[in-house]
Amino acid sequence: MRASATKRARVAGPRTVFVRLGAQAKLEARPDGHVFVHLEGYSVDLGWFSGGAAKRALELHAGVRLTALACRGKVDRELKSLTQRLARRGLLEYPVGEKRGVDAVVIEPQMADYQPQTPALRNTDVLALSRFAYLRRRGDAMVLESPRAGALFRISHPEIAAALTSLSTPQQIGRLRHQKGFPGLAVLALLVDCQILFKVDPKYDGSLRSVEGDADLVLWDFHDLLFHARSTAGRHANPLGGVYSYASATPAPPAVRRRWPGKAIDLTSLSHAAAGVSPTARLLRTRHSVRTFDAKRPITLAELAQFLDGTARVVSTWQEHVDLGVTRSIVSYTTRPYPSGGASYELELYLAVDKCEGLARGLYHYDAGQHAVVPIDVTMPHLEAVLAEAQEAMGAPAKPQIVITIAARFSRVSWKYSSLAYALILKDAGVLLQTLYLMATDMGLGGCAIGSTDIDLFAKMAGIEFHVEGPVGQFALGRGLPSAAGA
Ligand SMILES: Cc1cc2nc3c(=O)[nH]c(=O)nc-3n(C[C@H](O)[C@H](O)[C@H](O)COP(=O)(O)O)c2cc1C
Repeated sequence: MRASATKRARVAGPRTVFVRLGAQAKLEARPDGHVFVHLEGYSVDLGWFSGGAAKRALELHAGVRLTALACRGKVDRELKSLTQRLARRGLLEYPVGEKRGVDAVVIEPQMADYQPQTPALRNTDVLALSRFAYLRRRGDAMVLESPRAGALFRISHPEIAAALTSLSTPQQIGRLRHQKGFPGLAVLALLVDCQILFKVDPKYDGSLRSVEGDADLVLWDFHDLLFHARSTAGRHANPLGGVYSYASATPAPPAVRRRWPGKAIDLTSLSHAAAGVSPTARLLRTRHSVRTFDAKRPITLAELAQFLDGTARVVSTWQEHVDLGVTRSIVSYTTRPYPSGGASYELELYLAVDKCEGLARGLYHYDAGQHAVVPIDVTMPHLEAVLAEAQEAMGAPAKPQIVITIAARFSRVSWKYSSLAYALILKDAGVLLQTLYLMATDMGLGGCAIGSTDIDLFAKMAGIEFHVEGPVGQFALGRGLPSAAGA
């Protein structure tokens, strides 16, 4: 009896999903029901709970069955609310195993609102690995990730990793079951939910690339989507920003490069004659970042119109016929005040307005063709979050008057360019940022580039999937305080 039960379990694979506190966190439940979570160096107050719920919360150290949180009792409901608070801070993980403490796979959420889901799967379903999925060593663990996934999968058993790699060729679940290391339906379903695996129509023919996701996804190269998702905020749980992660490993690189050994040809006397004469040189020298704005004299709508006209407006349009032998395409182009790789002009400006005289608070899209701002219906918490995150990124005492999010229509570039599409987009964003800086300086306004933008927040706010159109840069704009000399 025992042997056959074990064999059945092996064939079925691990099937129980637990929810567990991350290794770095420790819960404290005080006798009055006040619950805290302690992390390295700081604590978070999670609020008050009934005695029963506070006690059960401590079970999260070892892990509780995920299904327990779906029960209807008062204590279960409280426990669910507590786990949601922990999940939003990235402090939970979801082990999958045959029993508690024996993990076959551990799911680490990468996005704040990730919730494990197990869509129904049948033996006849055909599954394939996403072309965006990748398996890598992290420390002494093997992790399976994808820029499309809300979570990554830490795989404890090499046989499971091996079985999953066999899905580089689409396979029926019924066949996969007979393979050593079958991960089990639960793990497969969790991977499908994270878009690391996807269902393939058994009758598909041709390229898997064309059947995964939508028409916009087809145009993304693997490295570009990974770079986009991992190099800004919103879709991963890695340390982000100026946290000096490697300060103890290596000294800070110098501000100015060490000199090459050749004999230097001094330019000082040659450049002195021109310096200070050219208005462009003066504008470039005057430009600086402004992070504090004059709340009593906000930027006006007329100034905003002049600013956008000078920096981003479509100046003219033209078309080109592209003959590729099998296909002929007509491609439309525009001319604008700043340069753009391949004249793609894929960058769109979205204005989160806190204070602008003559323009109501809200989110607007700048229609560069019409030279008009178009309001977009967004929730106040989303608008607040954009303004607050910009304030935090600048370490500013108050919100900026306007936050301009530079969003890219990725397909506009990747339709033509392979391998370098995303790099071109980031270069375009840099060029546009300097254009915004110079125009603000010229108009006596103030501005500051912002290095990281929450791409998930934008996706939620605009209702556009992150791979279709999304932020690649941000610029805070307003009337600087007379004393705002940058910093
Ligand atoms: C791509 C880029 C990202 C930046 N990100 C931030 C940011 O997130 N927060 C901030 O306060 N300043 C940011 N800045 C502004 C720089 O800190 C600033 O340009 C630099 O300190 C030089 O100062 P200056 O602009 O006054 O000459 C950014 C600038 C660039 C070009």
